[in-house]
Amino acid sequence: MKKILITGGAGFIGSHVVRRFVNEYPDYQIVNLDKLTYAGNLANLTDIEDRPNYRFVKADITDAPRINELFLQENFDAVIHLAAESHVDRSITDPSAFVMTNVIGSVNLLNAAREYWKGSYAGKRFYHVSTDEVYGALSEEGMFTEQTAYDPHSPYSASKASSDHFVRAYHDTYGLDVVISNCSNNYGSHHFPEKLIPLAINNIKNGQPVPVYGKGENVRDWLWVEDHARAIDVIFHQAKTGETYNIGGHNEWKNIDLIHLLCRIMDKKLGRAEGESAKLITFVTDRAGHDLRYAIDSTKLQQVLNWVPSLQFEEGLEKTVDWYLENEEWLANVTSGNYQAYYENQYKSR
Ligand code: NAD
Ligand code: DAU
Repeated sequence: MKKILITGGAGFIGSHVVRRFVNEYPDYQIVNLDKLTYAGNLANLTDIEDRPNYRFVKADITDAPRINELFLQENFDAVIHLAAESHVDRSITDPSAFVMTNVIGSVNLLNAAREYWKGSYAGKRFYHVSTDEVYGALSEEGMFTEQTAYDPHSPYSASKASSDHFVRAYHDTYGLDVVISNCSNNYGSHHFPEKLIPLAINNIKNGQPVPVYGKGENVRDWLWVEDHARAIDVIFHQAKTGETYNIGGHNEWKNIDLIHLLCRIMDKKLGRAEGESAKLITFVTDRAGHDLRYAIDSTKLQQVLNWVPSLQFEEGLEKTVDWYLENEEWLANVTSGNYQAYYENQYKSR
């Protein structure tokens, strides 16, 4: 019997992690803590919300007294920390929100774990879910390994790098049992349509321009979100304390090639003539400080913990498109209201 606090469980990756743990471990109690920002959505979890081993708590990780109270009441055995501001473009517009949640919020959780687990760290674990963006940008060669020096460029990646450093500092200074994983770009169902793939699916579906930053030459390394959730499960249960694991699918794509592939899939799914959706591609002003290339070397995870990605990209992308086409109500709900204002503000001047 374990009681696990999962933060950010109403978001994209968090909801897949919550679902996996609730389904795979009926003897664990899963407490999902989420502030329900624009990115958090309980509709992501309707299939498991009534399970006896699942509970939702609405709370903000920047609210230290609330977090302390919860640790005192609940006696958690472990934390899997995903709550974050996660969108690079938003971090360029408003860095402070990223410092508050990603740095201060993470430190609040570490403090609570340190305080309430004090004297009996055995069997307790703090798992911090992080990103490959902390390593900075690659040129055309090479890959990020666990030894790559941190070199974040955006306010988002700087805030995630800072939280990674705090997590390691609490291990080295106080002996807290911590593990960190740094993952590449995820894709799949329930992805908020501010990020490239779901935004492009939504726009192609609606016959709207598909904005590609710069010349579309930037490269990202895409991983099926359920493979990330499975990697988190394996690392949570098997990694040694203080360890870091990189997670990635060896699946690099130039943005423009990815968008063309997506357009071909959407033409097929929507019964459009081949080449029709690609006419929507629109090159727009580049992102400031845009990292050229990310590529993850996940050899350690594959060799030490026997994790391998399960899906080929084209298969995963088709499944993703199918999910968005079958879940029109979900998409309509998340793209109403504030989303329109965000979109207008983000793209009008590009
Ligand atoms: P997301 O934006 O979809 O979800 C973030 C969740 O955190 C939301 O449910 C939101 O409501 C919640 N949240 C935000 N601020 C909060 C606060 N102050 N208190 C409590 N809850 C709060 O993000 P995601 O893409 O699912 O990413 C989850 C984690 O994984 C993040 O830590 C991110 O850095 C990391 N990550 C993401 C990717 C990716 O490709 N999306 C890749 C690697 C790592
Ligand atoms: O690498 C992991 C990271 O991946 C995570 O830590 C972040 O939380 C996640 O948002 C993601 O960051 P990116 O900036 O790589 O993802 P995004 O979907 O925003 O952009 C992917 C690429 O597409 C990037 O090169 C920018 C480009 N892009 C993005 C948008 C939103 C466009 O060309 N047009 C767009 O409209």
